[in-house]
Amino acid sequence: MELKVNLGPRSYPIVLDSGIAGGLSSRLKKMFPKSKFGLVTNTTIRNLYQKQIEKWKKELGLTIHVMPDGERYKTIATWSRIFDTLLKAKFERSGVIIALGGGVVGDVAGFAAATMLRGVAYVQVPTTLLAMVDSSIGGKTGVDHACGKNLIGAFHQPSLVCIDTAFLDTLTEREFLAGCAELFKYAFIGGRDMFDFVSVNKGVLIKGRSQVLLEGMRRSIEIKAGIVGLDERETGGKRMLLNFGHTFAHALEKYFSFKKLLHGEALWWGMACACALGKILKTIPASDTAAYDTLLRAMPRPKLPSIPSDCDLYSAMFFDKKVSGGKINFVVPAKPGTSVVKSGVPGETVKNVLTKVLGKSE
Ligand SMILES: NC(=O)c1ccc[n+]([C@@H]2O[C@H](COP(=O)([O-])OP(=O)(O)OC[C@H]3O[C@@H](n4cnc5c(N)ncnc54)[C@H](O)[C@@H]3O)[C@@H](O)[C@H]2O)c1
Repeated sequence: MELKVNLGPRSYPIVLDSGIAGGLSSRLKKMFPKSKFGLVTNTTIRNLYQKQIEKWKKELGLTIHVMPDGERYKTIATWSRIFDTLLKAKFERSGVIIALGGGVVGDVAGFAAATMLRGVAYVQVPTTLLAMVDSSIGGKTGVDHACGKNLIGAFHQPSLVCIDTAFLDTLTEREFLAGCAELFKYAFIGGRDMFDFVSVNKGVLIKGRSQVLLEGMRRSIEIKAGIVGLDERETGGKRMLLNFGHTFAHALEKYFSFKKLLHGEALWWGMACACALGKILKTIPASDTAAYDTLLRAMPRPKLPSIPSDCDLYSAMFFDKKVSGGKINFVVPAKPGTSVVKSGVPGETVKNVLTKVLGKSE
């Protein structure tokens, strides 16, 4: 099936199905008949999908850059090495970068595309559930900084997103569940229909590849594409909703040095904190609190490496991109399927939430 991000001249298709990666070359040759192609991936995916990569290499004459695997390599150093490989291969402005991987590869390769020769085209071929339903869509590219996540980056929309669900078959259960957290996120922001869909199908969604999962992915992608189409650069407030749970999650990831906790796992805890905050701020109608709890509890609770310090986490939140005028903007749930942005929440309230939710996490 084909979906679309509507952004006028920067609009692009999202193709979603099983087994479509094999046909990518012919589509790309039609889209970019005279271009050189570069492919960025990581060691894990290169090892798993060597045959497919070799086939694309033959068909497209690819230059391949393989980066190390892991969030800790989502850095300026890795970004710079992509330039070394592609520029030495005489990459030109008409060149196209293919990002084959999860959110880390997609973000770094996208940032390389945004900045190389003042901007070249790129194509997202996401291989994790998280990247399929979220990070490959919307044009947020970037790398982490010691001060926090994604603090260096650019908005740069891909020309195509090719989502082949067959890649999910090699994903570990832990990574799959981390991606489910991002899919479940849409239940909090994507409207009543999505809330009901995830609530009804939550047990099946977390089990792996199925028609129900495909439908959940389609709905998630449509929600994300719709929000990006309305607020491409997060200036209108709409796109901020996509950060539901992320202010807490990014602080947790930083606290654990981007090593011991997966992004989706941190997001699960972030969503739990956002729900707790919503209860305190009374944005969630009392009659709906149980429905939110049931939704989150449908996913196994990710283990935290240790109980984090609420003060350190709170300090880390001030490095979030959603801070404005020194105030943190929190996205908190309201009635099912909708969330609202709250700023000026007292620090003590936030720390209480952190202690209450994370204090019993081990
Ligand atoms: N740009 C955005 O809008 C956006 C949105 C959400 C998250 N993100 C970013 O995405 C990143 C997280 O993405 P992620 O969860 O995909 O992590 P990831 O890219 O680190 O991938 C997770 C792990 O799965 C492996 N992997 C990938 N595909 C596989 C496959 N098919 N089979 C087996 N193993 C596979 C990877 O090598 C890695 O070890 C974070 O850096 C986060 O900040 C960006």
